[in-house]
Amino acid sequence: MAYSFLVTRSIPTVGLDRLRSGGSVKVNPYDRPMTADELVMAAADCDGILSMLTDRIDSAFLDRCPRVKAISNYAVGFNNIDVAECTRRGIGVSNTPDVLTNATAEIAMGLMLACARRLVEADGVVRTGQWRGWAPLDYLGVDMVGKVLGIVGAGRIGLRVAKMAAGFDMQVRYYSRSSHPEFDQIGAVRVDLERLLREADFVSLHAPLTDQTRHIIGAKQLAMMKPTAVFINTARGALVDEQALVEALRENRIFAAGLDVFEHEPVLSAGLASLKNAVLLPHIGSATTATRGEMAVMAAEDLLAMTSGKRPVHPVNPRRWG
Ligand code: DGY
Repeated sequence: MAYSFLVTRSIPTVGLDRLRSGGSVKVNPYDRPMTADELVMAAADCDGILSMLTDRIDSAFLDRCPRVKAISNYAVGFNNIDVAECTRRGIGVSNTPDVLTNATAEIAMGLMLACARRLVEADGVVRTGQWRGWAPLDYLGVDMVGKVLGIVGAGRIGLRVAKMAAGFDMQVRYYSRSSHPEFDQIGAVRVDLERLLREADFVSLHAPLTDQTRHIIGAKQLAMMKPTAVFINTARGALVDEQALVEALRENRIFAAGLDVFEHEPVLSAGLASLKNAVLLPHIGSATTATRGEMAVMAAEDLLAMTSGKRPVHPVNPRRWG
């Protein structure tokens, strides 16, 4: 049987070709996320959706698209999807774990270096002709080697960052509800969040966004951090109270922040863009050609599996398949 699919943004051709082997494929024609109405209109006659983290898949959408039986999210995070509601309706949901672990961990490490050594600020000085030549007191940053790295959330990406940090001789602490042998094996020490924030020179977020983790970092937590601390978020913007972070950076209560994700993407909280001690990236954690290609194939294959009634390789709601 040939199925009908919607892909909600252009993705690498390799994924579209894979999907076309199982049916007809519509791709969002716009160079932007679809509005809720556009999404419904495009999805209503489809069996499966290859969705993005910018698409809200909730009961309002599902009510209007009863034919949809499978959602394959082109991301490891799936906070854009009401998974419980999908499960209740017998709709399969999958994601793209593992393939983007290295790429995202690289961005976290890159942001740490960029913040610690003020790379973006220094680049701007050279480009704009403001550089007056070498000087002993210019652009002083903080060291990374030998410092304490606090990782919040002990998933695959956090673990990869912890392993990369070993190359900088960093001492890793991690915060997670349960202990993780893979972290313990590399000498990372599990601590509570307050201790992590008080002891870390670098704090990097790698937790999923859920009702429990929303604003896990707010004014109170920022106040626990060292004035020399660097704060990194490559996970989800709403883990952080972004306005509180802007205040902490503006008053130099922490040294710097490197953000690849924002609370109200693509809109930034007031004041963030003008801060010299913030490095801001447009959610590029997984943005390498190879990674995005692998994500496309993975998402397409799992969508094909789910629409034909099979369990996907990367299920988000495994209970759907019993
Ligand atoms: C994800 O996969 O969740 C990332 O945020 C995409 O880069």
